[in-house]
Amino acid sequence: MTSTKTVLIAGASGYLGRYAVREFKERGYHVRALVRDPEKVKTVGAHGEPAVHNIIDEFVIGDVTAPESIKGICKGVDIVFSALGLTAPHPTFTSNDVDYLGNKRILDQAVSEKVSRFIYVSVFNQDKMAEIPSIKAHERFAADLKQSGISWAVIRPNGYFSDMGRFFSMAQSGHIFMIGEGEKKINPVHGADLAKVCVDAVEGESREIPVGGPDVYTFRETMELAFHACGKTPWITSLPFWLAEGGLNVTAIFNRNLADLFSFAIEALKFDHIAPAHGTRHLKDFFAELATKTH
Ligand SMILES: NC(=O)c1ccc[n+]([C@@H]2O[C@H](COP(=O)([O-])OP(=O)(O)OC[C@H]3O[C@@H](n4cnc5c(N)ncnc54)[C@H](OP(=O)(O)O)[C@@H]3O)[C@@H](O)[C@H]2O)c1
Repeated sequence: MTSTKTVLIAGASGYLGRYAVREFKERGYHVRALVRDPEKVKTVGAHGEPAVHNIIDEFVIGDVTAPESIKGICKGVDIVFSALGLTAPHPTFTSNDVDYLGNKRILDQAVSEKVSRFIYVSVFNQDKMAEIPSIKAHERFAADLKQSGISWAVIRPNGYFSDMGRFFSMAQSGHIFMIGEGEKKINPVHGADLAKVCVDAVEGESREIPVGGPDVYTFRETMELAFHACGKTPWITSLPFWLAEGGLNVTAIFNRNLADLFSFAIEALKFDHIAPAHGTRHLKDFFAELATKTH
């Protein structure tokens, strides 16, 4: 007889984290979720990510920047899955505080509790963006994970549908400012398709897993799709990189954390992000769903 395994999901209230909760539950795991606010997961998220309050077995209410609040979090845990990260600017905390130190606090406990596998979500094309603060923080953590002695998997997604959802919100306003010509390509992935890859990563050797979705588009094409989904004629104004980077330097003077996160968004538009294709969900359908919700 096999006993139910317990997974700790860090970042369970996020876009990917909620799909991971659902996927681990469907595969029979006992889910312990680290969240800052359990109320948040009672409703569907902004990009259609599911409400998961009713399927979570155990909540740990904590913040990784407050070590006391996550003490004992890995007790009785078999697998840790972390999609925990700083994706919006915070007034005081940096990517290093959350993506690196926060995840490291969980890893240290996972090591002492002899957790059998740690799955971490980092990013694709990390070597091309190595100097960007958020990438540095992700990779500092990935390096520590690989040294920790725990069996590991590092998931490397190239871009989520939720990120493309930002283009949809801009398209709704009728106009998008694009940095560069938008000719670089990406095959973004839906959270539900990515969550399957994440749960599959429980098994097998320690490894890196690059992940993209089924359809390749230029960035300009993703914006055009967004305009079409909301029934508007595409109106895209291209800004040169030097201008965006100049703006970034000015932003950095009064808001370092905001500038750090913007620097990732700008750098990412400079090259292709085509990762091995997974999943069956299409960006066009995702935009169509967003359009029905906003009408
Ligand atoms: N979006 C992309 O295209 C993309 C591509 C590649 C990799 N990634 C990486 O994938 C990961 C997940 O991305 P996502 O889009 O799902 O992010 P998300 O929706 O912003 O979710 C981030 C999660 O981390 C939690 N979190 C943040 N700071 C925390 C703290 N101090 N203590 C406890 N929890 C904290 C958030 O909690 P709250 O709900 O309370 O804020 C949320 O559950 C991130 O590390 C991101 O860098 C994203």
